[in-house]
Amino acid sequence: MPVTESEGPPLRLGIVGLGLAGSIMTHNLRQHAGVKLVGACDLNASALAAFASDFDAFTTTDLNELLARPELDAVYIATPHQLHRQQAELAAQAGKHIVVEKPLALTLADCDQIIAAVDAGGVKLVVGHTHSFDPAVARMAEVIASGELGPLRMINSFNYTNFLYRPRRPEELDTALGGGIIFNQVPHQIDSLRLLTGSPVRSVRAATGIWDSDRPTEGAYQAFVGFENGVSATVTYSGYDYFDSDELHGWIGEGGRVKSPGGWGAARRQLADVATATAEQAMRQSAGYGAPLPAALGDGDQFQPHFGTTIASCEGGDLRASTEGLYCYRAGGRSEISVPAPRGVIPGWCEVIDELRAAIHGQADATHDARWGRETLRVCLAILESAKINQEVSL
Ligand SMILES: NC(=O)c1ccc[n+]([C@@H]2O[C@H](COP(=O)([O-])OP(=O)(O)OC[C@H]3O[C@@H](n4cnc5c(N)ncnc54)[C@H](O)[C@@H]3O)[C@@H](O)[C@H]2O)c1
Repeated sequence: MPVTESEGPPLRLGIVGLGLAGSIMTHNLRQHAGVKLVGACDLNASALAAFASDFDAFTTTDLNELLARPELDAVYIATPHQLHRQQAELAAQAGKHIVVEKPLALTLADCDQIIAAVDAGGVKLVVGHTHSFDPAVARMAEVIASGELGPLRMINSFNYTNFLYRPRRPEELDTALGGGIIFNQVPHQIDSLRLLTGSPVRSVRAATGIWDSDRPTEGAYQAFVGFENGVSATVTYSGYDYFDSDELHGWIGEGGRVKSPGGWGAARRQLADVATATAEQAMRQSAGYGAPLPAALGDGDQFQPHFGTTIASCEGGDLRASTEGLYCYRAGGRSEISVPAPRGVIPGWCEVIDELRAAIHGQADATHDARWGRETLRVCLAILESAKINQEVSL
């Protein structure tokens, strides 16, 4: 069993990157009894100042200075994707445990370097947050693994969002630099599929879409994923801000909060008023630590977080997340399975840190370790490759 929040000494954590993800994680950890926030590193002076005043913590623009602090046990790396490899290697070399945001890195060679550094440094690494940490996904995996619905046969997962029209840094619109949905959003889906099937991926047949020449990176894809245990999955994502699949989820947003219904196209319209890439980047940066969490995360009552709709079909029934638990459909009708109550500002984020703490305390190996992160990236790269060659790719 993983350590509970109050068990063991608090993990003394530094945040590397106080942008959107760093800010969400920090809000989640504020009340986590098993974590003490002791420092932060960023290049943004106003985010650092806000963090220092909230936590009376050490702040710096130089990662090496943060990593030299003896009071630091671990870092949460939430910087742009292209920095993950170098920063994770530095942290491992400094003997600090690591949580690194998805994707682990942008190439398999970079993942291998991280794996080697983590092994050599004798430290633990968890890749997250992805929505595979969502309590509903974890519960669905438990129900499937219990066998009470018979063998899992297929999964259908889809998500329609405004991803491509949220303010972006220039590299986020360039696939060669890690831009687009394949590196940013697809890891959420692949991680969840891998957790639910409990099996390595055998093959991928995919098509990707770049439908807006002003934002020339993948904004949509569809794939047929075959697993070694015979389970198959279809998986779809569109970030083009037309349909919003939260409409089918009672207008509960990704983070599990109620959001305003009917915001179709709003992100596109807002972006249309932003004249330059520089202005867009400034909007992006203004969401860093110290700013309110984005309205898109919603507010009000807390429901379960989700990443679109996922239906898992077993021989004896179907499962799909409801807003508060799991629906189970069997010959006798529909019942609801409870899911642990939401925790934190956005449930699923504290669970990432708990997985690291459990690994550090030797209580449970991390599921989402560096080798796991490499495998998820391998599937994402196979999606790009399959779309490019217009053929199935075997892994
Ligand atoms: N799990 C999730 O749901 C989720 C959500 C958002 C972002 N992310 C991930 O988090 C990572 C960051 O994304 P984001 O949206 O927070 O980006 P962001 O642009 O909002 O934040 C990045 C931060 O890193 C800082 N930074 C840049 N270079 C740095 C350096 N050399 N040293 C220290 N800090 C530096 C920037 O100043 C900025 O504050 C990405 O890998 C992304 O995939 C995950």
